[in-house]
Amino acid sequence: MQEINLLSKEEAATELESIATEMAKADIAYYQNDNPYLTDAEYDALKKRNQEIEARFPELIRPDSPSQKVGAPLKSGFGKIPHRFPMLSLGDIFTIEEVDDFVMSVKRFLNTSENIDFMAEPKIDGLSFSARYENRRFVQGATRGDGTTGEDITANLKTIKQLPQLLPDSAPDILEIRGEVYMAKSDFFALNEKYEAEGKKTFANPRNAAAGSLRQLDSKITAERNLSLFAYTCGEVSERCWASQTEFFDRLKEWGFPTNPLNKLCHSLQEIDDNFARLMQIRAELPYDIDGIVYKVDSIALQERLGFLTRTPRWAIAHKFPAEQAVTQIENIRIQVGRTGALTPVADLKPVNVGGVIVSHATLHNEDEIKRKDIRIGDTVIVQRAGDVIPQVVQVLTEKRPADSQEFDFPHTCPQCGAHAIREEDEAVRRCTGGLTCPAQAIERLIHFVSREAFNIEGLGDKIIDDFYHEGILHSPADIFTLEKRNGDGDLFSHQPNAALHLESRDGWGKKSVEKLFAAIRARQKIDLPRFIYALGIRQVGTATSRIIAQNYGSFESFMTDMQNKETAKLVAIDGIGGAMAKDIVEFFQEEHNLETIHNLLALVTVEDYIDTTNYNSPIAGKTIVFTGTLERMARAEAKAQAQALGAKVAGSVSKNTDYVIMGADAGSKATKAKELGVTILTEDEYLDLIK
Ligand code: IVH
Repeated sequence: MQEINLLSKEEAATELESIATEMAKADIAYYQNDNPYLTDAEYDALKKRNQEIEARFPELIRPDSPSQKVGAPLKSGFGKIPHRFPMLSLGDIFTIEEVDDFVMSVKRFLNTSENIDFMAEPKIDGLSFSARYENRRFVQGATRGDGTTGEDITANLKTIKQLPQLLPDSAPDILEIRGEVYMAKSDFFALNEKYEAEGKKTFANPRNAAAGSLRQLDSKITAERNLSLFAYTCGEVSERCWASQTEFFDRLKEWGFPTNPLNKLCHSLQEIDDNFARLMQIRAELPYDIDGIVYKVDSIALQERLGFLTRTPRWAIAHKFPAEQAVTQIENIRIQVGRTGALTPVADLKPVNVGGVIVSHATLHNEDEIKRKDIRIGDTVIVQRAGDVIPQVVQVLTEKRPADSQEFDFPHTCPQCGAHAIREEDEAVRRCTGGLTCPAQAIERLIHFVSREAFNIEGLGDKIIDDFYHEGILHSPADIFTLEKRNGDGDLFSHQPNAALHLESRDGWGKKSVEKLFAAIRARQKIDLPRFIYALGIRQVGTATSRIIAQNYGSFESFMTDMQNKETAKLVAIDGIGGAMAKDIVEFFQEEHNLETIHNLLALVTVEDYIDTTNYNSPIAGKTIVFTGTLERMARAEAKAQAQALGAKVAGSVSKNTDYVIMGADAGSKATKAKELGVTILTEDEYLDLIK
């Protein structure tokens, strides 16, 4: 990366633009979809780089710069709650020198040399909430949202037992308490385990699990999750009965709000520093995730004098922990071969404790990454673990490189089957060309084939598939459907003609479990089209794509015929399928061994045609409708799905082709436009009457 003071103005402008785009995408993934793809450290690094470039070129600050906004746009479907006092964010600092600077700047602003006390509070990695009480009764809950307007989560907050619903008489008439909702690590692991067993998508980390649980349109779902909270600040209040943050915490406790027992009043920089070091040490053992310490000027009078910058208070700051990293050695680099033949380099590490978890492998992503970071066997490296993701090698400590370190020669043949491994132009991955003759690919494909979203055959776990493959019991998906026939002394299996199959006498098996497995397999001899397409494991074709292909082709036969004939017109006309994906699909159907697999399968299983359940006789069939404003009786997503099932097309904006505009509460410009164009406007109730 270029040094900031060497950047030309043009380069700076270009980089600011790309950071703004990148961070906007990351924000949507994080805030709206609760599904981040940048690590916190990567995000913070971008933010810092942005800030530094802007400091040198203030004239280049973009209106859409990450420095100009708090959080992300609101998720649709929730009611909106304007915050009477904005919910702000905090400036980030990373070193003790910066803490010193912060303390100095506070003193300078107050023009004092007297000592100032700071409350140091663990920064909980959850999501902030506001809970409003009127006459000591909980009346309204909101998320931070974009800082000015939050999402209405009143019903959801009500399900959290730790939040008091009624306050004692000593509490003010109007009181808005703010704090952090989080999911304890143990609850997070339990939830993910459950989801994994149910084949559902798991959460990346406790923060996302908390956000995904709290921002539910259906509060019943929130109620099923174990959420916790800490209170730490206050929004609107009719009568403030505390003079410091210390006293505020006393009041909070009196009124029944949970406060963090690790909050600590610090009287000096030394105490602040010691406290930081101590919390960093016990961080891994805490029952919840924290990502730093928040320092707040303790005196409320001083807080008021200090006031606010645009988006952050002058009297508080967040001292962030460095990402969870550790130093260890690379003992070996090996190649893993995935279902689509991708060769992924993996580093075997000398086991090391990273933030409380023992790490012994890290992904090295691909061959360019190894070159870029110059990673060699024997190297001492910094590894990082962020949330639940696979650990990564961040950096090589080249000064510690031993004389006998070995560069890794990325193989050009597959280590599992010996076939050529080729890398296509503008692709980062190298792939084995062995297809199903490659055991690694064959096994991964079998695992995919029986997975939950595909054939969903219980009783065939990864380990069993691996064993069965190596013992010659299962080589290809079709073999699954001949297992029962082959078991016993009857038919012998062609791969190992002399081995009779007696599954019930395997270690850990019995008559019952074998019977159960056969029943599970029999139940899948009829399969719906989307599952069948997905189960084939075509590169890039996930569950959603499989479904739209099924919808558009109706039968497997017509899909396969087109693909074999390289007839892609219909395919690429489908919204959501691009040229690259079409190419992968067509290629899949040109491979001889894939056709053989499909042919064998179709002799044993029936693929049901896609049944279109759309009701084309409904009153809104063929109509184009637009929803606007907040619907009261159902969430927007549900309303949309229901309308589509009734044959309507749901559009995002009003035009002269719109048939109906369904107007919820607080409808804005779309309703106005509908009136201008003379489009029929229905209230939610009128609409429900119409489709009843
Ligand atoms: S005070 C103006 N205290 O950190 C004061 N925030 O980066 C704003 N957070 O949005 C918040 N623990 O979600 C405060 N003890 C704590 C906190 C805390 C976690 C979060 C909160 C806030 C974000 C700011």
